Amino acid sequence: MSARIIDGKAVAAQLRQQIKQQVEQRLADGRPTPGLAVVLVGSDPASQVYVSHKRKDCAEVGIRSFAHDLPSETSEAELLGLIDQLNADPAVDGILVQLPLPAHIDTNAVIERILPEKDVDGFHPYNLGRLAQRRPVLRPCTPRGVMILLEKSGIELAGLDAVVIGASNIVGKPMALELLMAGCTVTVCHSRTRELEAKVRAADLVVVGVGRAEMVKGDWLKPGAVVIDVGINRLDNGKLAGDVEFASASKVAGWLTPVPGGVGPMTRATLLQNTLDTSER
Ligand code: GUN
Repeated sequence: MSARIIDGKAVAAQLRQQIKQQVEQRLADGRPTPGLAVVLVGSDPASQVYVSHKRKDCAEVGIRSFAHDLPSETSEAELLGLIDQLNADPAVDGILVQLPLPAHIDTNAVIERILPEKDVDGFHPYNLGRLAQRRPVLRPCTPRGVMILLEKSGIELAGLDAVVIGASNIVGKPMALELLMAGCTVTVCHSRTRELEAKVRAADLVVVGVGRAEMVKGDWLKPGAVVIDVGINRLDNGKLAGDVEFASASKVAGWLTPVPGGVGPMTRATLLQNTLDTSER
């Protein structure tokens, strides 16, 4: 068996094209340009790359981006003050604070300070709570991007046994809520889970987001399973690898996302979609 490869890059490009047209239509209707504030504290190299991608994506689709690059010594009070300003600014529809934040800043306090209606990451307890209630407003970008990929691939989710590996607030937990909402029976696995392999082997759909290169092997999978790899890991040889061993998994899975070119571009495109959605509300 050879897995069908889910081309996240192509689906994301399509989504950006649609968003661009919708932004153009808004302007033609005399409505304001959607605006996204992207806040970066400190100089973590990976965060700098992610943030520059987000700003470039905004420019491509006609969303205005407001850059706030703050030094790593920024105090929590200063950051909260900036968020208050952005909350009050009518040109700013969405606010994204790149994580992780420096250790002296309380991440939850920052997330909770963002107005829920501007929380384009979907991390505010209000938005996670709405998702848990099956009446989502703003949905976290990576899980929402995965749901769009599954839908565009024509994969029927209702009734599937799904395993999510990783229980983070950014990926695993909201992913589990999305799949539950779509009618899957969901098992969330984490570092304390027993007999992980056996759980994965029983799954029709596996979503992995733990940040451990090539942890999930092909022989863990049920033949024909849908496998979504959220991991992005830099190998010693400089290459990127997912959390799934691609070569062996592609011989067993029915569907598989590559790394790079799978979930990553969808996360970025979904942020633009969330920003457009908030400005439309
Ligand atoms: N750091 C890693 N992933 C994310 C994300 O989706 N949003 C934010 N704000 N920070 C991140």
